[in-house]
Amino acid sequence: MTAPVIDVHLDADDGQVRRAQRARRTLAADPPFVDPVWFYDEHGSRLFDAITRLPEYYPTRTERSLLEAHADEIVAWGADALVELGSGTSTKTTLLLDAMARAGTLRRYIPFDVSEETLRDAAHRLTDRYPSLAVHGVVGDFHQHLPTIPDGGSRLVAFLGSTIGNLAPSERRRFLPDLDCAMEHHDRLLLGIDLEKDPDRLVAAYDDASGVTAEFNRNALRVLNRELGADFDPDAFDHVALWDPHQRWIEMRLLAHTSQVVTVPGLSEPLRFGAGEGLRTEISAKFTVDGMTKELWTHGFVVDEVFVDAAQDFALLLAHPYC
Ligand code: SAH
Ligand code: AVI
Repeated sequence: MTAPVIDVHLDADDGQVRRAQRARRTLAADPPFVDPVWFYDEHGSRLFDAITRLPEYYPTRTERSLLEAHADEIVAWGADALVELGSGTSTKTTLLLDAMARAGTLRRYIPFDVSEETLRDAAHRLTDRYPSLAVHGVVGDFHQHLPTIPDGGSRLVAFLGSTIGNLAPSERRRFLPDLDCAMEHHDRLLLGIDLEKDPDRLVAAYDDASGVTAEFNRNALRVLNRELGADFDPDAFDHVALWDPHQRWIEMRLLAHTSQVVTVPGLSEPLRFGAGEGLRTEISAKFTVDGMTKELWTHGFVVDEVFVDAAQDFALLLAHPYC
């Protein structure tokens, strides 16, 4: 068994500094928002894991059933390395690694995530489970550090869970070409996308009855307090999830229930929120297979295969860079 190698691009270097600068800028914007990356400290990753098991949150179990049914086909072209962007706890990953092991091609696993502790735990767990697997983790931000992904071999780059839906359209227009540049023509992309559906089901998935998503949402304020030195009172903010029919996305917000003054070091003025005002913490765009196929084409990828569940809730797209 070989110990995992972990490259960290987010410690005291400019990765961390740039994220903090951007957060100060977006908090001072009108209306204020933060990137969803701020949910994911160790506690936030655990809360996300709890979300994936909620009855209302269908995406994870639907994507898992697609992987159970199609993992062998997905790796059949000879993938010998699995790169996973936003790998989190790497739970569904074993379905792909097992398929590669069955095909006799399994060599390397490259988890890539912003949450260092979560990535380290997953890397050690998978090294124990697959003793001959070389695990090379990358702790980084996929808006900055895609060029640092280790190369070589035939890589399946998985971006699962519809995490692409958490990127604004303008961010996707930068991210997809960056990803195209980071891949070789013989690599493949496996993209999980959540499909458009009844807005009531969508809202329920993002505002569950047991309040786990509300806690996940408020965790962003705890992380901002710790990492920026801000003084948000997370309990003074209500969780809201709403469907935007024009943008075709779920939007999560945190709204103050009484007026709040929040100090963020580095900002010239404190943030002031009246009752009912607040900030956006996440968008979660929903897609159509045709729309995403065109979007991928625009940014350098051809879709070779599409796997959709019978209820048409979720899709996996297997694509390759076309030059
Ligand atoms: N892929 C897993 C986890 C999805 S949760 C699944 O399908 O269940 C989203 C993951 O993306 C989290 O682990 C989070 O830490 C990571 N993430 C979010 N923003 C990121 C960013 N900008 N760069 C790298 N990882 C990011
Ligand atoms: C990680 N990401 C795809 C999740 C989503 O569904 O947009 C994050 C999440 N937010 C609330 N619940 C889950």
